Amino acid sequence: MAMSPRVSLPVATIDASQRLIFETTEDQDRAWQIGVFYLRAPRSLELDKVRCFGEGLSFPDSPYREIPKYGELEGFISLENNQQTKLALQRHRWDEHYPPEIANFGRKLDEIGIGIVREVFHQSGIPEQHWGPASGGYAAGEGTAFLNFVHYDTREPDLGLRPHTDYGFVTILDATAPGLQVELDGSFVDVPVLEGHLVINFGEALNFITQRSDRTVSAIVHRVTTQSASNPVRHSIVYFANPCLDGYLQQYDSQGRRQGSSTVHRLFESLEHKLTEDN
Ligand SMILES: [Fe+2]
Repeated sequence: MAMSPRVSLPVATIDASQRLIFETTEDQDRAWQIGVFYLRAPRSLELDKVRCFGEGLSFPDSPYREIPKYGELEGFISLENNQQTKLALQRHRWDEHYPPEIANFGRKLDEIGIGIVREVFHQSGIPEQHWGPASGGYAAGEGTAFLNFVHYDTREPDLGLRPHTDYGFVTILDATAPGLQVELDGSFVDVPVLEGHLVINFGEALNFITQRSDRTVSAIVHRVTTQSASNPVRHSIVYFANPCLDGYLQQYDSQGRRQGSSTVHRLFESLEHKLTEDN
């Protein structure tokens, strides 16, 4: 397979007060404009231990493979039509099914996700009292969060994951093998693995909320490519910060005037429609 060009993405850190910091304002501008950046993983995350837990799930005798399915999106899921198997759980089930250190890891990602969303709102000029309602509660510690452990078994011939944007606010990804590509200026480029860093991307819900503010963030189109046979199983940890499916999203301007709103359902439905038309 021909090598794709590699992209160099801006790098951010989270400071002691959970604020998102970029090295330069140009880096921050670019992150907001393209909708993806690296975040240096705080040491307190103990990523190595969590990666070990994730890799253990791919063993056929792992007890976590017995976790039941809750609807279509949660539980231990093995999809017939692509390379993915995953264990996916929403925040309110972490304590029941994950060991304590993994549930705690999820809560640390909650803090990071909230910190990123609050920085987006800060930059958008939307007055702080509206951040909670605008995000269906997520910026105030509510909303929905998923912590998922995903495996792509590349011995299956299908594409890892077709091109898409994420629906929610923010996605936090720990990928230890290449495969993620983002669409920039109409073509897909590789996102290299940067050891010790997470990949953050913005989703459609955050784009929607900031559309009438001083600073809109983009939701980036991305995909996962098939891996080389030398590294057949690709493990990743994914955290999704999402609105509750039965909630509302609100658009405010920097004067605090409400400019628009949508049920989460309606927004997601319109995105589905857009995807169907494009394909
Ligand atoms: Fe995605």
